[in-house]
Amino acid sequence: MTVTARRVHLAQRPVGLPDASTWSVRETRLDAPGEGEVLVKVTHLSLDPAMRGWLNDVKSYVPPVGVDEVMRAGGVGEVLESRDPRFSVGDPVSGMLGIADHAVVKADELTPIDLSVAGPATWLGALGMPGMTAWFGLFDVARLQDGDTVLVSGAAGAVGSVVGQLAKARGCTVVGIAGGPEKTAWLTDELGFDAAIDYRQGDLNRAIKEAAPKGVDVYFDNVGGETLDAALRNLRRGARIAICGAISTYNATEPVPGPANYMSLLVNRASMTGFLVFDYADRYGEAVEGMGAMIADGSLVAREHVVEGGVDAFPDTLLMLFSGANTGKLVLTV
Ligand SMILES: NC(=O)c1ccc[n+]([C@@H]2O[C@H](COP(=O)([O-])OP(=O)(O)OC[C@H]3O[C@@H](n4cnc5c(N)ncnc54)[C@H](OP(=O)(O)O)[C@@H]3O)[C@@H](O)[C@H]2O)c1
Repeated sequence: MTVTARRVHLAQRPVGLPDASTWSVRETRLDAPGEGEVLVKVTHLSLDPAMRGWLNDVKSYVPPVGVDEVMRAGGVGEVLESRDPRFSVGDPVSGMLGIADHAVVKADELTPIDLSVAGPATWLGALGMPGMTAWFGLFDVARLQDGDTVLVSGAAGAVGSVVGQLAKARGCTVVGIAGGPEKTAWLTDELGFDAAIDYRQGDLNRAIKEAAPKGVDVYFDNVGGETLDAALRNLRRGARIAICGAISTYNATEPVPGPANYMSLLVNRASMTGFLVFDYADRYGEAVEGMGAMIADGSLVAREHVVEGGVDAFPDTLLMLFSGANTGKLVLTV
């Protein structure tokens, strides 16, 4: 079968926040899938802060998206045609499908998903890449221990909201940092965080001190910048910082200053470790099993912020990540 795909291409590299000139929407006739390939009707797209980094022409953990290429994106969809015995027409799948309404992809790069465990958007959130990031970042990188006090920034987002809930489920004390009163209320009232700080109000350092008077054992950093510096001032001896991301710096047009308070690592015999979720790919199954069970018994709230707009809405919807307009995992339906 051949189909016409509507896809978003990188038109030019942005400086600062991407805008309309960054993208072009094009229609392209796709070749029918070849041997070992699958044609997928894309239904849901994952919008991720990392997308901003993929637009920069710099060496990173993956090559940048090239000018004129289809924008890289994770997504879920349904198999329309399969030339691989592992997939049949109608199967729900996830994979790197690009910002597109249809994609022809190698079967090796697709993962079957079970919609009886959770809906498609959740397979991009708590049971997808952000959930995997939370699980391995908290348990493997930050080496969560019973009794820890955990501080997490970007706490009302896809990764942060799962981090806090996993730490609560382990009986830890959890303090979240997020933007605005609705988000902080959601964290304490519905997710059971012990405290939540609105970083846009008042003195962040003082607020962390009040919420965690004995200091922080684990800081799960999603935002970097001044928030990381405030967290560094509030470490407890032996603290572990997991550097997951630094969204506050992703659109910077000037060099970003390093953390001023890093000597707190020495004073507190603490460590700060960066990590990439993809390095845990061969263990995703254990995290899906663990969090799938928690979703089923109600101990993990998987929240998605679903925008129904199709691929044409991608440029505007992506910006929601940088203004903080999303609560939970940002997903675009196609
Ligand atoms: N290391 C890895 O393998 C890996 C994998 C996945 C994600 N990540 C990283 O994890 C972080 C969270 O990703 P996510 O998918 O869960 O996104 P998300 O938290 O769902 O969405 C981004 C959130 O960041 C906050 N934000 C935006 N600009 C900010 C600023 N200047 N200062 C402070 N907060 C700001 C906003 O919330 P507020 O309203 O609270 O400001 C926004 O809702 C990102 O840094 C991402 O790059 C890393």
